[in-house]
Amino acid sequence: MTTRRTLLLGAAGLAGGAAVTALTGCAGRTSPRLVTPSGTAVQTAEAARRKPGAATVTASLKPRPVTLDLGGVTVATWGYAEQAPGPLIRAKAGDLIRVDVHNQLPTATSVHWHGIALRNDMDGVPDVTQPAIAAGGSFRYEFTAPDPGTYFYHPHSGVQLDRALYGVLIVDDPADPGRYDVDWAVVLDDWVDGTGRTPDQVLADLQSMGGMNGSSMGGMDMGGMSMGGGMEMNTSAILGGAGDISYPHYLINGRIPAAPATFTGKPRQRARIRIVNAASDTAFRLALGGHRLTVTHTDGYPVVPSTVDALIVGMGERVDVETDLADGAFPLVALAEGKRDTTGAQARAFAIVRTGAGSPPPADARPAQLDGPAALATDLRAADAVRLADRSPDRSHTLTLAGGMMPYRWTINGTTFDKAQPVTVKHGERVRLRFVNTSTMFHPMHLHGHTFALAGGGPRKDTVIVKPNQSVTVDLDAANPGQWMTHCHNIYHAEAGMMVNLAYQE
Ligand code: C2O
Ligand code: CU
Repeated sequence: MTTRRTLLLGAAGLAGGAAVTALTGCAGRTSPRLVTPSGTAVQTAEAARRKPGAATVTASLKPRPVTLDLGGVTVATWGYAEQAPGPLIRAKAGDLIRVDVHNQLPTATSVHWHGIALRNDMDGVPDVTQPAIAAGGSFRYEFTAPDPGTYFYHPHSGVQLDRALYGVLIVDDPADPGRYDVDWAVVLDDWVDGTGRTPDQVLADLQSMGGMNGSSMGGMDMGGMSMGGGMEMNTSAILGGAGDISYPHYLINGRIPAAPATFTGKPRQRARIRIVNAASDTAFRLALGGHRLTVTHTDGYPVVPSTVDALIVGMGERVDVETDLADGAFPLVALAEGKRDTTGAQARAFAIVRTGAGSPPPADARPAQLDGPAALATDLRAADAVRLADRSPDRSHTLTLAGGMMPYRWTINGTTFDKAQPVTVKHGERVRLRFVNTSTMFHPMHLHGHTFALAGGGPRKDTVIVKPNQSVTVDLDAANPGQWMTHCHNIYHAEAGMMVNLAYQE
């Protein structure tokens, strides 16, 4: 009893203690005093979000070893359920979400609520906002979800996201019932686990080949690097260097193209389609045969509606579209942007939309819409209701993105996360971030706990693609005190260093 109690208290103490020591650097260095993840400022911010009479939505997650059938391909992996994605969590804006996580993995884990402006101590970043949930351990996440939108959840531990550890989190708007008849979540993923290598082995291979000439890495491409030895590069006309890994499979809702997921509706119904890119190293170009798609939201926030043929979705981005369903069976194709399969064809994920009779489209169907102009979120405009008020920044930070394959090291301002000093802000400030990409790879840059606005009336987002040799400027209101990770959502880049703490100082 005594031991157990001591352990529990010790762990609770660590949440504040570890964060403070880890974030303020070693003794002797003069660093600003930083807001503690569970301190008064964070509690005050959460209290302001709580609405009297708000409902509580409860769920439980058991990350565990599972066997998944991807559609004739069976893989041993880690998941939240016997299928991917994991359970859908659905709440209304203002609800309290309470999720008990019981870790049945052989290793420590955590759960991050991607895109939610939540209380910092529930953000799920081990050693920063909480101690990792040890193998066999449990943790209760409890937070108010203030803003409606399409979000997702995943571990913030190593490259666990590249297994089946992800699920969709939808926050509905009680003030807007929506004008659609069917509501679908389309979750995109790139898949390697259980096919001969785990994601951890993939990362180890990427890291160990720095210094070798790369000739022994079957299935891995030297994205963005010119290399001899017949290595193929993942390059995209739109994104430049388009990922470091050629995956054996690409999935929509956990299914390979040969055994696709089917979304059913009726002709003339209006469909809302929530596209979530849960992949670790792959952006997708998505189109629905026979339909154009009207983009209504990106990363949860409304945009001025824009009707497109195809769209590009980076890792960590969500795009909601609406369309009026035609009569028949239609291919929903998500090309793995810049990646090829073993036959040399462009790699793809695939699903079917069916509203009527007719033979199903083949898995290699190529709707003409894919060849139309493909919209990036940066082409969109914020809806008036969510435009950031005009204000000049109180503080600006430039985050220079660099790195490459040899060695496998990705940096922000020349430094990997383990050596990085926090980028500081103060509560109440308008903050401008300038992402400057000096590498030959695109990076989907994600900020925790906030939604920024792209410069010049662009959309509100929490994840934005920064192309090679491009700068993207975003503004945000520092209204959610805490320690917030800012990182590339290529999970291999993040693990290899491309992450920094956006830290509120006292
Ligand atoms: Cu989905 Cu730190 O990210
Ligand atoms: Cu990156």
